[in-house]
Amino acid sequence: MPEKPVVLMPEDVQRLLGRDAQRNNILAAKMVAEIVKTTLGPKGMDKMLVSPTNDITVTNDGVTILEEMQIEHPAARMMVEIAKTQETEVGDGTTTAVMIAGKLLENAEKLLDKKIHPIVITKGYRMASEKAQEILKDIAIKITPDDEDVLKQIAMTAMTGKGAEDSRDWFADIIVKAVKQIRDNGKINLGDIKIEKSKGDGIKDTELISGIVIDKGAISRDMPNLVRGSRIALVDFPLELRNPEIETKISISSPEQLHGFIEQEERGIREMIEKVKLSGANVIFCQKGIDDFAQYLLAKEKIYACRRVSRSDMEKISKATGARIVSNLGELSPFELGNADLVEEVVHGEDFLTYIRGCQNPKALTILIHGGSEHVIDEIERAIKDGLGDVACSLQSGLVVAGGGAVEMELAKRIREFGNSLSGREQLAVEEFASALEFIPASLAENAGLDPIDVIAELKSRHDSGEKNAGLNLFTNKIENVLEARIIEPLKIKTQAISSASEVAIMILRIDDVIASTGKRGNDFGKAQRGIGPEDMF
Ligand SMILES: Nc1ncnc2c1ncn2[C@@H]1O[C@H](COP(=O)(O)OP(=O)(O)OP(=O)(O)O)[C@@H](O)[C@H]1O
Ligand SMILES: [Mg+2]
Repeated sequence: MPEKPVVLMPEDVQRLLGRDAQRNNILAAKMVAEIVKTTLGPKGMDKMLVSPTNDITVTNDGVTILEEMQIEHPAARMMVEIAKTQETEVGDGTTTAVMIAGKLLENAEKLLDKKIHPIVITKGYRMASEKAQEILKDIAIKITPDDEDVLKQIAMTAMTGKGAEDSRDWFADIIVKAVKQIRDNGKINLGDIKIEKSKGDGIKDTELISGIVIDKGAISRDMPNLVRGSRIALVDFPLELRNPEIETKISISSPEQLHGFIEQEERGIREMIEKVKLSGANVIFCQKGIDDFAQYLLAKEKIYACRRVSRSDMEKISKATGARIVSNLGELSPFELGNADLVEEVVHGEDFLTYIRGCQNPKALTILIHGGSEHVIDEIERAIKDGLGDVACSLQSGLVVAGGGAVEMELAKRIREFGNSLSGREQLAVEEFASALEFIPASLAENAGLDPIDVIAELKSRHDSGEKNAGLNLFTNKIENVLEARIIEPLKIKTQAISSASEVAIMILRIDDVIASTGKRGNDFGKAQRGIGPEDMF
């Protein structure tokens, strides 16, 4: 009797095993690194991303590119995750992290081809990654919060090559001032800096405002457009007639009845506004709607009102002015109000904004970005956020390293020396780890139209002769002491990028079986082998 075949899994489950699984995953990871490679460094190019709803993003920021691409391949998605971690932990260096991970995997493939077991490779990578952290600590340079000049340079390095390039100097000033101002007992919470955008004027008009700016003006032209000695109420319920949840029918048979009904509704609103007035508020920010009649009454009482203010703005105003967000009108009392010297409506081009100045908490800050178009403003915002992240983490750890590929070259050199002291096959993996780091200076050179082989050769020999800060200065296109050329980055960019890149490379290398349930949608993990087409990126 013939043996019955054993069926473990349903038919629609696809499976890739052993070398096939590894090859497929490595290929996908390499492709992700290739995508962002051309954007690295001051001479990197930008990408234009068009969403299904035709929204356009023009950016140079690694994590933004990868998030917008809606990558589906499972291993490639793991690469996107490192970019996201880098973004939340540091705010910059996302391209670098993804590129190192891609190169680590590409180099691992060479070893796999030589029949070196993945476990040996992962062990070598882990050893090299730990050594890298040790070396980084050793070569990092200390700075203090008083080194304002250095902090400015860090912000400028973060912004080179991004849309903000032309006004780097001005932005760096704003960034350093902002971060130093919100610093509280050595702690920095970048959430305390509000970023607001306004279309109109040039990017050079971007300003740092002490206080909060929100992108809404007063809702009625009859309201005052300036309130001094403001007492601010924050409410998160609508100031409008109750909207019956279910369809309601009201039958009215006489004009008196109609009159009575309208009067009753109006009385409700009058009571609401009366309560606001009684609390002593002369400014109100409402998270929901305010209807026409309520607007009229508020204007009559000379109360400045904004409606549909976002939750995050409500929270920022609350923190800055000491106002409590009230969810029930009965709770609104003078004790729940916040204070600011001035609330003012300001018109910028087509935009109406509200400035809240002289807040109870003097640390409240807003960076107001100006620019000619939404796309420009968005890219400036990303650049400024990179700068803020870099300055904040340099201040927090007090440690920085030389950019322009210098730190990667020095790391590669010392990791190679460490590799030579090992005896097993792991040595080969350690060597590949070192050369993966050289991918950063090589790509900086390539993106600037220089020959990467020549650049790496010269950098190697300079580092061998003890010049540990020799890097590629892309302002002059020369190899020189980049620390003197003031190309400086926070240490955390590198420690974070190297540790998450090696973790993900190790994780991907350890996979030798991909079991994918296709469900109805069809499966994605074969697509990387066919390449990226416009209709199926992965
Ligand atoms: N003037 C310069 N000359 C040479 N290299 C520079 C210069 N300015 C910055 N760099 C280098 O450029 C690299 C950073 O490039 P970039 O900002 O495009 O990528 P990232 O920081 O890795 O990612 P992202 O900013 O997209 O999150 C760093 O290695 C940095 O040292
Ligand atoms: Mg950067």
